Amino acid sequence: MQRKNYKLEKVFTPSKPAEITYVERYEINRRIDRAIKTSGKQIIIYGYSGVGKTSLIFKKLKQFKRKFIKTSCISGMTIQDIVLDAFNQLDIYYPSQIDESESKTKGSSLASNFWFIKAGLKFEKKDEGKQINKRAVDLPITPQNLAKFIGEKKLVWVIEDFHKIEETHKKQMAQIMKVFMDASTEYPNLKIIALGAVNSAREVVQYDSEMKSRISEIEVPLMHHDNLKSIIESGEQLLNVSFTENVKNRIITYSSGLPAVTHQLCLLLCELNNIEKTQRNLHKIQFDKFNEAMEEYLEENSDSFRAIFEQATKVTHQRKNENPIDLLKHIIDLNKENFTISEIRDVIQRTNRNYKPNNLKKYIDEFLAPIRSEILRFNENHNTYYFSNPFIKAYIQCSLKAEINKNKILTKEFKNILREELLIAQKAFQQDYGEFDFGNFEDI
Ligand SMILES: Nc1ncnc2c1ncn2[C@@H]1O[C@H](COP(=O)(O)OP(=O)(O)OP(=O)(O)O)[C@@H](O)[C@H]1O
Ligand SMILES: [Mg+2]
Repeated sequence: MQRKNYKLEKVFTPSKPAEITYVERYEINRRIDRAIKTSGKQIIIYGYSGVGKTSLIFKKLKQFKRKFIKTSCISGMTIQDIVLDAFNQLDIYYPSQIDESESKTKGSSLASNFWFIKAGLKFEKKDEGKQINKRAVDLPITPQNLAKFIGEKKLVWVIEDFHKIEETHKKQMAQIMKVFMDASTEYPNLKIIALGAVNSAREVVQYDSEMKSRISEIEVPLMHHDNLKSIIESGEQLLNVSFTENVKNRIITYSSGLPAVTHQLCLLLCELNNIEKTQRNLHKIQFDKFNEAMEEYLEENSDSFRAIFEQATKVTHQRKNENPIDLLKHIIDLNKENFTISEIRDVIQRTNRNYKPNNLKKYIDEFLAPIRSEILRFNENHNTYYFSNPFIKAYIQCSLKAEINKNKILTKEFKNILREELLIAQKAFQQDYGEFDFGNFEDI
C-alpha cells in the first residue's frame, strides 16, 4: 500500500491545534462527551497554557458534528466586545424594506422580533437592487437575542482565553451562561464553552452556586509521558522517520507535560535533518542533531522566556519583603526541586527575623496563575510547589544572577544552568518512570 504523503508542518504543529497527531485524552473524554451531549450544560475547560484545551475541544466538536463560532479574548476586552464579536460572526442580515405583514409571514419569528427595534439605525446600501440589508450587529444587542441567533443556527459558542477578561466581567459572563441555559429548552444543542488557562474554573467564570449543577468544569491535566510519546510515535509513522529511544525520552522529559514543547522539539529536530515531508524510505534521525535542536529551541524561545520572566516579576504594588523577584530569589536559594510555603518562610526569616508570612501563600499562589506566567505548579498530593519547566527555572536563575547578556541569551552560564536543570528533570522522570537510557546529558 502506498504511504500517504504529509508535510512536516501538518504533522508537528507547535502553534496550532493538533490534528493528525492528536492523541486521545482518555482521562477526561467521558466527562467532556457527557457535557457536550447534555442539553443546557455549559462547559468551562481550564488548564495550563499549551496543555491541549483548544485541540481537545475542536476534536470533540468535530466528533459530535457540532458547528461553532469562536471568540478569542484579548486583554482589555469587555463583555460587550465579546458579545459583539459573536454577533459579527453570525453575519446576520435581515431585509429591512419588506413590509411588516410580509415579514411576519415569511421571516422567522426571530427576524420579526428584530423588526421592532430597528428604529434609529443607520442603513447600509447593498448592491444596486431595491433591497437594503441591515446587519443585525447594529441593532440593540442582548444576550437573549444572541442565544436565540446562535441557537437558530444550531451553533456552539466557544470563548477562548477567558481568563484575560477583567474580574468584573467574569460575573457578567456567568449571567450570559444563565441565559444560554434557559434558552436550551428551545435550542437543545445551544451552549457556551469557555476555555481558560488557569488553575480553577472559578477563575474563568464566576458563577453562583445555584448554577453549579448546570456547568461542567473540566480540567485538562498535564499530558502524561505515555501520551507525549504517542505524539512522537505517530509523527514517526506519518513521516516515516525514527528517533532513537534516547531522543524520545529526552523530548518527553523536557516537555514537562506540555505537548506544545513536544511538537516544537520534534519539528526542529526534523528540520535539522532536512525532513520536510513523509520519507520514501525510513529515515533514522541522527542523535547528534538533538543538541542543535535544543539550541534552536532556546534561541527561538528566548524572547518568550524573557517575557515570562518580566511578567512573573512585574511589580504592581511595592511590597516590603515579598516583591515577586525577592520571592523567586528565596525559592532559588532554597535549592530544592519541590518546596513548601513554610520552607520559603524559613528562608526569608533567616535574613529578616521579624518577617510575618501572612500573605506569603497568596503571593506564591500568584505564580501559579497566568498573571505571573504560571511559572510555578502545585502538587496537591504533597502540598509542594515546583517550577513549571526546567527551561524557565534555568532562565530565572540566570536572570537573577544578572548574567544574561540581554542581546544574546545563549550565554555559557544559561547553558550550564540549563544542563543542571535538565539533569534534575531527568532524575525526576526516572523516579516516576524507571530507568531509561538517556545517553549523555552532559553534552547539551
Ligand atoms: N491531544 C493532543 N495530541 C497531540 N498534540 C496535542 C494534543 N493536544 C494539544 N496538542 C498540541 O499541543 C500544543 C498546544 O495545544 P493547544 O493549543 O490545544 O493548547 P491550549 O491548552 O489550548 O493552549 P493555550 O492555553 O496556549 O491556548 C499544540 O501544538 C497542539 O498541536
Ligand atoms: Mg488554546
